[in-house]
Amino acid sequence: MVMAINRVICLALLLLSGTFLLGSKVESADGKACTRNCDPDVAYMVCPSSGHRIIKQVCVNCCSARKGCKLFRNNGSVKCIGN
Ligand SMILES: *[C@@H]1O[C@H](CO)[C@@H](O)[C@H](O)[C@H]1NC(C)=O
Repeated sequence: MVMAINRVICLALLLLSGTFLLGSKVESADGKACTRNCDPDVAYMVCPSSGHRIIKQVCVNCCSARKGCKLFRNNGSVKCIGN
């Protein structure tokens, strides 16, 4: 009896963590499944939503960047633009 209950709880937890992981992934960028890795190549970014100000020490990559955000390298060249 106790074993059965434990198994049900285990299953429920598994399901819950599964949907949580999935949910947080989807939430990160409009339905795209992006990793949350920081791109070491990106020195700073400029977003329209921030009034085109430079945002330093960002943890983004080309996939997770928000729409319209430009990601710049250390040497000032544009790496990519979020979409
Ligand atoms: C900046 O670095 C990137 C990658 O190394 C290179 O492709 C690009 O030409 C460089 N741009 C400038 C302006 O030096």
